[in-house]
Amino acid sequence: MQRGLKCGVLLAMAAFCAPIAYGAANQDDVATGERLAALVRASRSVISSYQGLINDASIGDKHLTGGRVVEESLALYSKNNKQSLPDQTFTPAEQQLFDAQIAAIREVVDENQEVINAKGVGFKGFIPAIFARLVNERLEKKVGETAKIKVTAPEDLVRNRKALPDDWERQVIESKFQSADWPKGKPFVEESEMDGRRAFRMLIPEYYSPSCLTCHGQPKGEIDISGYPKEGAAEGDLGGAISITLFQ
Ligand code: HEC
Repeated sequence: MQRGLKCGVLLAMAAFCAPIAYGAANQDDVATGERLAALVRASRSVISSYQGLINDASIGDKHLTGGRVVEESLALYSKNNKQSLPDQTFTPAEQQLFDAQIAAIREVVDENQEVINAKGVGFKGFIPAIFARLVNERLEKKVGETAKIKVTAPEDLVRNRKALPDDWERQVIESKFQSADWPKGKPFVEESEMDGRRAFRMLIPEYYSPSCLTCHGQPKGEIDISGYPKEGAAEGDLGGAISITLFQ
């Protein structure tokens, strides 16, 4: 329930309290948003699982092609969501978004082969957060009039200015995700707007796991391997949010 209860005047009558759970949001939009976010997460996990390989200075060609990352991302998506992709129930519009997201993943990995395969270089800066940003930027080039995906964060944690929250995102982060009683992991969705257009918007909170803390953890201010000062975060802290926009 995102906006609380809309209650009839007779307080005692529970039947008058209709949850407006997802605002006026359409369940198909919610499903599409969840699917887009799940594929971001799956592909980011695949890159993460190969971080050691990517950072290995002794190996040249790592055979980590766009095709392979796409294939493994879809497999991981199916495993995590108990549903395979692409799915037979796609509308043409969903199919277009799905195809664009898959193409964006493939292109970003293929275009970074030289970086990934550079021999003699350890840390190459090709990490899940940067990979995901590049994929989301590519997606925007392809279907930005229809949909957008962005990974944002509480303002004080933002490393890359491109990830700065807009007003809607900031407000949801501060008033929902950072409030003590917000259920962990619960997304917020709302019929809202972006760039003056009506849009279905969805924000999904993300929390730091132990693997994040080598860069985002303690000691605060120490420079991490990627060259940024660590945030001093702890496991389970809110680290960011995946923001999905579907223009209406
Ligand atoms: C190798 C160091 C490293 C690790 C490990 C790491 N990050 Fe980051 N993270 C970065 C860098 C660098 C950026 C900036 C990326 C860019 O330029 O877009 C970033 C960006 C982000 C952002 C986007 C907002 C921003 O600050 O630009 C979020 C959210 C985030 N990280 C969360 C996480 C979470 C959650 C994990 C663990 C699952 C994690 N990070 C693991 C280095 C790291």
